[in-house]
This record gives sequence, structure tokens and C-alpha cells, in this order.
Amino acid sequence: MSANQLDKKSQAWSALFSEPMSELVKRYTASVGFDRRMWRADIAGSLAHAEMLAAQGIIGADDLAAIQRGMAQIAQEIEAGSFEWKLDLEDVHLNIEARLTQLVGDAGKRLHTGRSRNDQVATDVRLWLRDEIDALAPLLAQMQLALVEVAEKNVDTILPGFTHMQVAQPVSFAHHLLAYVEMFARDAERLADVRKRVNRSPLGAAALAGTSYPLDRERAAKTLGFDGVCQNSLDAVSDRDFAIEFAGFASITMMHVSRLAEEIVLWMSQNFGFIDLADRYCTGSSIMPQKRNPDVAELARGKSGRVVGHLMALLTLMKGQPLTYNKDNQEDKEPLFDSVDTLRDTLRIMAEMVGGIVVKPEAMERAALKGYATATDLADYLVKKGLPFRDAHEVVAHAVKLAIQQGVDLSELPLATLQGFNPTIADDVYAVLTLRGSLNARSVLGGTAPDQVRAQLARHRARLQTS
Ligand code: ARG
Repeated sequence: MSANQLDKKSQAWSALFSEPMSELVKRYTASVGFDRRMWRADIAGSLAHAEMLAAQGIIGADDLAAIQRGMAQIAQEIEAGSFEWKLDLEDVHLNIEARLTQLVGDAGKRLHTGRSRNDQVATDVRLWLRDEIDALAPLLAQMQLALVEVAEKNVDTILPGFTHMQVAQPVSFAHHLLAYVEMFARDAERLADVRKRVNRSPLGAAALAGTSYPLDRERAAKTLGFDGVCQNSLDAVSDRDFAIEFAGFASITMMHVSRLAEEIVLWMSQNFGFIDLADRYCTGSSIMPQKRNPDVAELARGKSGRVVGHLMALLTLMKGQPLTYNKDNQEDKEPLFDSVDTLRDTLRIMAEMVGGIVVKPEAMERAALKGYATATDLADYLVKKGLPFRDAHEVVAHAVKLAIQQGVDLSELPLATLQGFNPTIADDVYAVLTLRGSLNARSVLGGTAPDQVRAQLARHRARLQTS
């Protein structure tokens, strides 16, 4: 069938069919509206397949040359925006193949030898996703670097650390930011791991059972930069676990972004006042003139919902499918595409915004003082004087109670008062009751003491610069 016939009949399989597809069904089943964005992968996959077919003597060298020439023109047309995408041709694969046949005749019709759209689409999605993964990895590194840079300036900035959203113990603001660096570093590891399983070639699985043509699957895979081939043809065309895994990675990363965004929103509120954001990341209110809202952070938090939703969509789409390919799989694309787009935009904007955070150290320190954040330090002090920890805990609870009644910090209670709670308390207690004393004391590996934080910063710097 010629490309014109294909056009007219609107069907790639038409001989068997006695009536045309209804308009509604056509629109319902077509995917070209969204899968056309995989056109580069589709052409690359076809060229690798054709090159291998020629090398195996399945098509002629002249056919290969014609296919290459036609594909080069198609790529140009798509790039220039002059390619005419047709809903009648259902998807990106049939659109490109029909145009190829229009341009180069029979050679175009030979391209599909030993191939099915089932292994073709699985190949396209993997190639497309691999490129997106390679573009996302540096953004994750940038996000970490942005945090490291703010952290480097804030090793000695004291933030109240919270548990249960109650002031718990003072921490270095840098230490707090580096917690997110750890999270994003793990996300980057996960991404690199997902890539290994994305980067395998389904080509040659054909419709489901493999093909009777003497294909060299390894050769086509190598041309496309795949690390190997899928070893079972049924699995190759049917499973989308690689996409689900990516969505899992994306959801976890967005969950981390969302936690950071939530803290930024809190920190910027009047009740905290720990940071300020540049005006360009905020918006005003149409009714309340005093408002500067952290919309970017809120949206980043909100957009985590859609990415998690996509993970659910992909899992649900897959779970009921018997082997092998089913059209359900066409539904993998929009969630996957949107996960990539959302994550990419979010990482970019969050890294930029974090880089511009204005830190307000006095407000942070004031909040730490207000919350009796050094109470544990007083207990530890008493333990060093010989009290069992549980008794020390009790003594300090009484001291905090009195301080609250008097509206003062623990460090503001006179020595005589403190000694009333326990006679072993001496003048040196005031050193541990300061926020800085508390910070310095936590110099265990991974703790918040500035020397530890500086060591971690150096490690992250070295790691991020070499990656
Ligand atoms: N557009 C289809 C998809 O995204 C391509 C594969 C169609 N294969 C088929 N046998 N109908 O899954």
C-alpha cells in the first residue's frame, strides 16, 4: 500500500476491514498528539534498525541509503515545523513511516521488516527517557550545589531544630540544609540506577515472539547506545517497569522538594521570619496589599501531587495487563512526559530560588532561645557530674518549668536558683547553656557541631565538583 493509499484509507492494516474507523474512535485511539515528541527517538531507532537490516543482507544498500535520505528530510521538516502530523495516521511511528514511503517509495515500505510497532514504541520510550535522565542528572547536582552554597555561608547560623514542630535543640542552619543535600544525593543515585534498566533494547522482539529474519539485535542495540538487549521478547514489548521505576524516582525527588518547599513557606511566614525570598519568586494578593506570597515554593509542593499521581497511574495501568502488549500501554506516555517536565522545571526553579534565599540569623537565634533548646545540654551536664540520665531529665524539667513561669531562658536563671535544683551545678554551667556551646558539643560524626558541618561541606563540594 502506498503512503497515499494509507492516507486515504486512514488505516495501516486495512485489507481486512470493511468500514472506516469512526471519527470518535480515531480520536480516542490516536496518540500522535502527544507521542510526536518522541520523533527523534523514533527516527534514531528506525535508522539503527535499517542499518542492521542492510548489514544482515535483509534489505539492500540502496534501500538503506534511501531510508537515510528520507529520514534526514523528515527530521528537517519536523524541526522546521513543516511536517504535517496526521491524526488519521494514529501515532508518531505511522506518521513518520508514511512520510518516508511518500518520499522514498518501496525502501520506506521495507523499513518495517522484522519489526513491529510494539518493539518500536518500547524502544522509543526507552531512548527518549534515557536522554531525559541524562538531562535531569545535572539539575539534581545543581540543586545540591545551590544548597551547599547557602550552607557554606551559614555554618555558624543557629536555627532551632524541631521535632513534632516543637523547638528541640539548636542546629547549624548549614547542617539543616545539608540534610536536603543528602536526600538529593540519594535521588541522584536512584536516577543513575534507574538508567541501567531503562537502557536496554527491545528492538528485535517484534510483535511479541521475536522474528524469523536473521536480525542482529546486539548490533542495533549498540548503534543506539543501549547497554544490552532485553532477553525475553514477550517481556520486551509488554513491561513498562522502567517507566514506573522512573516515576518512583521522580515521586521521591518531588517529595523531597516538597518538604523543602514547605519549610521555605514556613520560614518566610511572619510567625517564623527566618528567611526572605527575592521578590521575583513571590506574588502579591489582588485584595491584601501587604501580601508577598511564596507561590513558587507552594507550587513546587503542590506539583509533587501530580507526579505521585502519575506513579499511581502507571502502576495501575500495568497491573491488570496480561502478557504481552496491550493498547493500555499507550497510556504510559502522558504521565511519564509530565513527570519529566514537572520535575525538570521544579528542580530548575527551586535551585535558583534557594540560591537567592536571604537568611535572617537573629530571628532564627531568637526562636532557638525562646524554646529552651539547650535543656538537653543541661541534662547532659548533670550526667557528666554523675547523675543518671533519667534523674537529670527530671531535674531539668523542673528548671524549665520555673524558667517558663518567670518568662526567662535557662541561661538567665541565677546560679543559686539552678543549684536549688541540683547542688552539683557550678558556674561552668553557663557555657553549656548557650546555643553555641550546645552546637559545639554535638561533634559526633554527622552531628551539628560546626567542625563536623565543615567536614561534610568539604565532602559534598569535592563530590559535586567531580561529578
Ligand atoms: N501508539 C502505540 C503505543 O503507544 C504504538 C504501539 C501500537 N501497537 C499496536 N499493536 N497497536 O503503544
